[in-house]
Amino acid sequence: MTAGPAEVSPFQQTLRTYLKAGYPILYVVTAEEQRAIDLISGALADEKLSRRKPFVWSVSRGLCTLDLKSVDQKTADPKRILPYLQELKQPGVFILEDFHNFIDERSPSATLVVRQMRDLVGPFQATQKTLVVLSPVLKIPPEIEKDVTVVDLGLPDESELAGVLDETVESVKDRPHVEINLDGDGRERVVKALCGLTQMEAENALAKVVVTRSRLDAEDIDLLLAEKEQVIRKSGILEFYASPERFGSIGGLENLKEWLRRRGKAFSEAARDFPLPYPKGLLLVGVPGCGKSLTAKAVAAEWRMPLLKFDLGKVFGPLVGQAEDNMRKALKMGQAVAPCVLWIDEIEKGLAGSRGGGQGDSGVAARVFGTLLTWMEENKQPVFVVATANDIAGTPPELLRKGRFDEVFFVDLPSLPERALILAIHLTRQRRDHRDFDLARHAAAAEGFSGAELEQVVVEAMFSAFAEGEKTRVEDRHLEKAIAESVPLSQSMGPRIAQLRELAKGWRIASKAAEEGARGAEVVMPEPPPVPPKRKRIFEV
Ligand SMILES: Nc1ncnc2c1ncn2[C@@H]1O[C@H](COP(=O)(O)OP(=O)(O)O)[C@@H](O)[C@H]1O
Ligand SMILES: [Mg+2]
Repeated sequence: MTAGPAEVSPFQQTLRTYLKAGYPILYVVTAEEQRAIDLISGALADEKLSRRKPFVWSVSRGLCTLDLKSVDQKTADPKRILPYLQELKQPGVFILEDFHNFIDERSPSATLVVRQMRDLVGPFQATQKTLVVLSPVLKIPPEIEKDVTVVDLGLPDESELAGVLDETVESVKDRPHVEINLDGDGRERVVKALCGLTQMEAENALAKVVVTRSRLDAEDIDLLLAEKEQVIRKSGILEFYASPERFGSIGGLENLKEWLRRRGKAFSEAARDFPLPYPKGLLLVGVPGCGKSLTAKAVAAEWRMPLLKFDLGKVFGPLVGQAEDNMRKALKMGQAVAPCVLWIDEIEKGLAGSRGGGQGDSGVAARVFGTLLTWMEENKQPVFVVATANDIAGTPPELLRKGRFDEVFFVDLPSLPERALILAIHLTRQRRDHRDFDLARHAAAAEGFSGAELEQVVVEAMFSAFAEGEKTRVEDRHLEKAIAESVPLSQSMGPRIAQLRELAKGWRIASKAAEEGARGAEVVMPEPPPVPPKRKRIFEV
């Protein structure tokens, strides 16, 4: 397997620089051995490096050439390989597989092998020889830390993945039963969907699509995304969040939706050519239960991107520096899955949790925040951060400054027409026809209700109708009663909401100014919300 196109990757460029500068020991962190070997040997195709031949060593085969011809059987002993290389006259790049096991302090011969490694530093520098340790984990004994240079291989980039796709297409194109359609932006979309997978995972994912569907086109992205889900699951802090919500599920918040529709276009290839940078993110602050989390869920589906929920509480660990480290790892994982929406819900709680966690140190929270902000500033990948907050009293002011997030929106209690629309949406979701109800009247009665409370009103009405008998129609009177019996949270939250509104003066308002005049609360549903499918009764005979 070759490493895709002949283009030189950033990894190869770095490698060339180190080789030319005579670095004696490189440590490449990767789980992709074959890809790393291909890239390293590819990097040697440079006139200044042509005298160096690549070799591979493993404990099973000893030292071999790249086509696995044995150089000397006795080098299979890990205690003999390094002295052997030191004596060798040939300039070269010697790739060691699994060698981290032999320099690990738990290995009985580690003291000897580590010493041997230190001994070859000087001679290697003088003779155009370089040792490359390939390992899935970064673990360097302190004795040689200063002599070893770590190179991160990273996951395959788009051009490498395009190479993988081309090879798959090449290998199946003559089969009569496989239909390939990658016209238009199809190819680009498949490549984007593969981002975040290793080369092997990408090959497997494509093979799976071909085998299960007998075709390969952009419509098969779902299968590829399912494959990525597996990758993310392993990270612990991020979670793939599948949600049926669309913009049609959100009543009101028209300014916000409008802004999102426009920003969504900036992820296209045309926007790259224009050129526009990728949108970075959005902060939604506001009254609880008014659709902030709902918007985060819907936007991912609208943009056809996977939604990654970031559990901020999980980054805090008992060890010093662990939180920032976890944070960086998770953000890197997010980048690997890009394009995606990274959703940090109730950001203020995650940070408060770190203080309440017995550390008595708000410094950790500040540093974690700092890590996020720096990352947002430097990140060039299409990862769109949606952060939500109900209470920003304790939030660091830097977070709220514009420039980090593309925009900060304030989400207030729904206006009269918005309340009517929210009731209509939730009635529709319960498979009731909203035109059967006098929603203008109910919306007026439900002054101060949040979206979540209006949803609850509909649910209550369903219950009370059902209590009268299973055939009872849900009617206005049920809604009326449910509204009369609920006390909205905003009644007790008055001062806090006023405070929020005061703070929000510099931000954009998510709702369009209510036109409560002539049209009143007439319900126009621009797009119907997704309705859960009716449960089928299953008869077991
Ligand atoms: N604007 C809205 N339109 C429709 N439903 C809403 C709206 N706001 C809230 N809801 C309902 O209330 C639930 C909770 O709202 P959520 O988005 O979690 O609130 P928060 O702003 O606290 O994140 C939603 O899942 C939805 O069912
Ligand atoms: Mg929420």
